[in-house]
Amino acid sequence: MGKLVAISDLHVRYAENRQIVERLRPAGEDDWLLVAGDVGETVADVEWTLELLSRRFARVVWVPGNHELWTTTDDPVRLKGVERYEHLVGMCRRLGVLTPEDPYPVWEGDGGPAVIAPLFLLYDYTFRPAGTATKEEAMAIAKAAGVICTDEYFLAPDPYPTRDAWSRARVEETEKRLTREVPDGLPTVLVNHWPIVREPTRVLRYPEFALWCGTEATEDWPRRFRAAAVVYGHLHIPRLIWHHGVPHQEVSLGYPREWQPRGTPPGRLTQILPPVAVGP
Ligand SMILES: [Fe+2]
Ligand SMILES: [Fe+2]
Repeated sequence: MGKLVAISDLHVRYAENRQIVERLRPAGEDDWLLVAGDVGETVADVEWTLELLSRRFARVVWVPGNHELWTTTDDPVRLKGVERYEHLVGMCRRLGVLTPEDPYPVWEGDGGPAVIAPLFLLYDYTFRPAGTATKEEAMAIAKAAGVICTDEYFLAPDPYPTRDAWSRARVEETEKRLTREVPDGLPTVLVNHWPIVREPTRVLRYPEFALWCGTEATEDWPRRFRAAAVVYGHLHIPRLIWHHGVPHQEVSLGYPREWQPRGTPPGRLTQILPPVAVGP
């Protein structure tokens, strides 16, 4: 019986992180790996990583992070927005890696059965500072604080007019799929690059950055869809928090300058099932 393990934010553009990926191995031949976004910025880097991991793990499940969706001059693949995402999904299909566009697989290993739901929900600027009512007001505060996510320059939402419009479409479509496709009575493991509730963003060093970290539209999803665990990344603050009785596990590796000072071995896989932590 295998284990379900997870990692995110591998950011393989850094040689130190690439070496960590080269050392990532399952503990047993039946282990599945969840890769919760921000593998890298170029299609070639994402492919290198997922190809290597898909040879080692019984099953790899990937969801996109914001970095995979950037269109930069470093990448000969100049696709933007939805076309870029679909190109990455096509690459995953060739590798046998599951994405949010595939039927939800059921984990039957230790701690199962549980429906694994890889999600791509983006963000819609609703994690706003207290007292602000609109995206525009919140953006003005963030700008004044000197906090602007690089996505504003590199993450094109085409053909949607804005990233928040793309996010709303993803949320609506995903909610329908979860309602229709998760069998009654089975718990889920919800996997998304961005947190799906606001709570993890309360500790951000720059609170204005929360604008680019999720959407309030999914706040009740862990309860509604019987989440045994929520897996996310993006904040580069790896930790476990319990929110309304559900474990939310950030599984990020992060940048070398972030993990190097920690003194714990970097690139440890986080076990999601069977559950390790007991709730409060
Ligand atoms: Fe990241
Ligand atoms: Fe990210």
